[in-house]
Amino acid sequence: MSAVTLLLTCLLLRDVHALSGNFWHITDLHWDPTYEVTEVPERVCGSSGGLPAAAAGPFGDYACDSPWHLIDSSVNAMKAILPDPDFIVWTGDDTPHVPNKDLGEEKVLDIMRNLTHIIKRVFPDTKVYSALGNHDYHPKSQLPAGPSYIYNQTAEMWSDWLEPESRESFRKGGFYTERLLNRGGFRILVLNTNLYYDQNQVVTDAEDPAGQFSWADGVLTEAAQKKEKVYIIGHVPPGFFEKKRSKAWFKPRFNQRYIDLVQKHHPVILGQFFGHHHTDSFRMFYSSDGSPISTMFLSPGVTPWKTTLPGVVNGANNPGIRVFEYDTQTLLVKDVVTYYLNLTHANEAYGRWEKEYRLTESFRVPDASPPSMHQVLERMANDRCYLQKYYEFNSVSYDLTECDADCRVDHVCAAREADFESYDICLKEAGAPVVVGGALLPLLSVALSLLSARWF
Ligand SMILES: *[C@@H]1O[C@H](CO)[C@@H](O)[C@H](O)[C@H]1NC(C)=O
Ligand SMILES: *[C@@H]1O[C@H](CO)[C@@H](O)[C@H](O)[C@H]1NC(C)=O
Ligand SMILES: *[C@@H]1O[C@H](CO)[C@@H](O)[C@H](O)[C@H]1NC(C)=O
Ligand SMILES: [Zn+2]
Ligand SMILES: [Zn+2]
Repeated sequence: MSAVTLLLTCLLLRDVHALSGNFWHITDLHWDPTYEVTEVPERVCGSSGGLPAAAAGPFGDYACDSPWHLIDSSVNAMKAILPDPDFIVWTGDDTPHVPNKDLGEEKVLDIMRNLTHIIKRVFPDTKVYSALGNHDYHPKSQLPAGPSYIYNQTAEMWSDWLEPESRESFRKGGFYTERLLNRGGFRILVLNTNLYYDQNQVVTDAEDPAGQFSWADGVLTEAAQKKEKVYIIGHVPPGFFEKKRSKAWFKPRFNQRYIDLVQKHHPVILGQFFGHHHTDSFRMFYSSDGSPISTMFLSPGVTPWKTTLPGVVNGANNPGIRVFEYDTQTLLVKDVVTYYLNLTHANEAYGRWEKEYRLTESFRVPDASPPSMHQVLERMANDRCYLQKYYEFNSVSYDLTECDADCRVDHVCAAREADFESYDICLKEAGAPVVVGGALLPLLSVALSLLSARWF
């Protein structure tokens, strides 16, 4: 190789390298301040709701939300693995799964402050984009479509991370937009999708709570005019829970409106990053002619807490944290690397955060673009080996049992169809019975909604 070629190659390599950036996504930390390893397993943590925390150790228990030690370990693992990310995406749910009476506005804010503080302490110079979860409010999930004390206090708490206009916007409705890292041509949209959550009883009658949809439509329209590329982050996702057939989170009209928004603006939306499931999954969005246009990444939670949602079998997970690698010129998501803590091992021996998998390696795709994620989905749908791999990652290597035919339908249809009708069609085509919605069972649905405050 001549010196000139070598020089050119090196320049080229350097350029390629410069195009690549990365950021952390963490979600659902759910700190339980009551966690304490005691002789009586039922009394280890408030978040187990009286269930025994049978294997409780310093890093937690699958029946409980995170002890402080796990929170501390996960934030420090981020620092050890990738100390200088371009930014951090944090998609909410800070407080434990305990009854409202055991919390309160100040308690919720105190917990949010402690988590904010540790992230700031460990990453003092890193920009954090932070979205509210349904557990970052009191009473839980009742986030209002207008100004509130908690929005005010949170805007204050996160003021180092917010531009002045973002702070203003956040106070009014818990959402905001700003230029990504203050760079021209790049934008982030931080949504408060808790307004669309069916458990939210304070916004039931609104067409467009807090005007968030029309605001987002305006922001994305302007982004297109200015040739900006946009990331969207939020907590509660549209579509269905892959671990429980026909379980959706959004009210139907809001689900439809969210999908319309993505279909209308997909050329500028380069990625969507959400939480709430505590599992590792993704949602595809397609154009009317069926081409993949956008992907929503659902990142695993830090809390290992086993969901008490009826019908979910053994719904716990290992604590997970995740790095996204992206093209800094186009915002295309190039790869997804998930790290995890084997909770059992951590309690028995020591806390060891390891790489769980790299998307492009495990699923043999060139990147994490919508066409590649569509390919991942097709592999899951048609190849048992890929399905099983995806399934084990879904619980962050906690549930290693076989994903059977029913399981396959639930995961594939949830990933493929965020739209309510298309999801039902997907189930029917797979020959799976469609679960009848709550509408036909009004009493049961009231009873369930009373209980469900503790589900997610
Ligand atoms: C949480 O914050 C309070 C108030 O700053 C502090 O006293 C307490 O020690 C913090 N807790 C943890 C576990 O850091
Ligand atoms: C929020 O803060 C602003 C300015 O600090 C204040 O005027 C307003 O009354 C507060 N709103 C609520 C709901 O607490
Ligand atoms: C987690 O650790 C336990 C105990 O060391 C071990 O039995 C289990 O196989 C590990 N799980 C994974 C996915 O490595
Ligand atoms: Zn959560
Ligand atoms: Zn949640």
